[in-house]
Amino acid sequence: LALFAIIILIAGGLFLFSRQRNVTASGADKQIIRLAHNQSSDHPTHIGMLAFEEFIESKYGDKYDVQIYPSELLGTQTNLVQLTQTGAIEVTVASNSILETFNTDFQIFNLPYLFESPEAYHAAMDDPEIVASIFNGTIESGFVTKAWLDAGTRNFYVKDTPIDEVSDLAGKKIRVQQSPTNVSMMNLLGGSATPMGFGDVYTAIQSGVIDGAENNELALTENGHGDVVKNYSYTMHQMIPDEVIVSTRFLEALPESEQATFDEAFKIMEETQHQAWEEKVAEARDRAENDMNVVFNYPDIEPFKEAVLPLHDAMLEAYPELQDTYNKIQEKNENYTNNTREGDAS
Ligand code: GCU
Repeated sequence: LALFAIIILIAGGLFLFSRQRNVTASGADKQIIRLAHNQSSDHPTHIGMLAFEEFIESKYGDKYDVQIYPSELLGTQTNLVQLTQTGAIEVTVASNSILETFNTDFQIFNLPYLFESPEAYHAAMDDPEIVASIFNGTIESGFVTKAWLDAGTRNFYVKDTPIDEVSDLAGKKIRVQQSPTNVSMMNLLGGSATPMGFGDVYTAIQSGVIDGAENNELALTENGHGDVVKNYSYTMHQMIPDEVIVSTRFLEALPESEQATFDEAFKIMEETQHQAWEEKVAEARDRAENDMNVVFNYPDIEPFKEAVLPLHDAMLEAYPELQDTYNKIQEKNENYTNNTREGDAS
């Protein structure tokens, strides 16, 4: 860990030192825009970023050089958010889960069983009345959220045992993201919450440090978790977006004439990612089932919901300012109730 921290410090120092200037082979002096994330270069997030790169360079290729760093190359998501805050990185993708430790307003989207369906989730995240104040509320902390990326639904996968009932989680060590909401959720489900960065999960399961984890289907394939766990249970306990956060330092230095183009570029990243998401999830399910022999289970969700719903009231009591946003999300839930799972009998 210490070594890792040193590497990050050196990398951060180098970035600040060489800030934003890159003399290319042709001698042109370009401003570098660094985008970093923790997924593979096959992942929808990377595909969305490539679309951003292509668009910006097609508009301002003489001025900007967009560089994408996948696979935690520049650190874990928490490291990346910090580097974005200082302006060492211009853009990063961070799970909404970990953003709640930077601003408590984000916790609303981390609540388990907040959204009734993927449709309600999309409608809510697309509604400025629900997201704008939260997305723009972190300017003082050095970043704002410019787009949201789909990360599907989160479901449990635990070595040697499908999760059919809440009691199947009892005493199991389950990796969770580094967020207080997720730790509380795991505790309510009776498991033992083990927070860690995404990149450490594979080895932790393989070596037996943890019994399992929870994530979307791409974790099975893109991150190889399906090599070490052979069942996947659709508890659908969370739909947690990934947020595209941008350094305030970078945004404030942008010429006014370019701002609309950058906003368009973030929209293109979002739309491209959402489309790629649909395709990649279908592909991941197929690969997990047929090439990796992962068995999908469809437990009754109600008991899981009942166990964790107290978190909703607890959050609203502690943060009454989130009540209005919560009510607006409930309106989406009423309009989009169809919560079917891929693979459920129709
Ligand atoms: C998903 C999500 C990532 C997150 C990861 C995790 O893959 O898209 O942003 O880091 O889950 O569980 O940490």
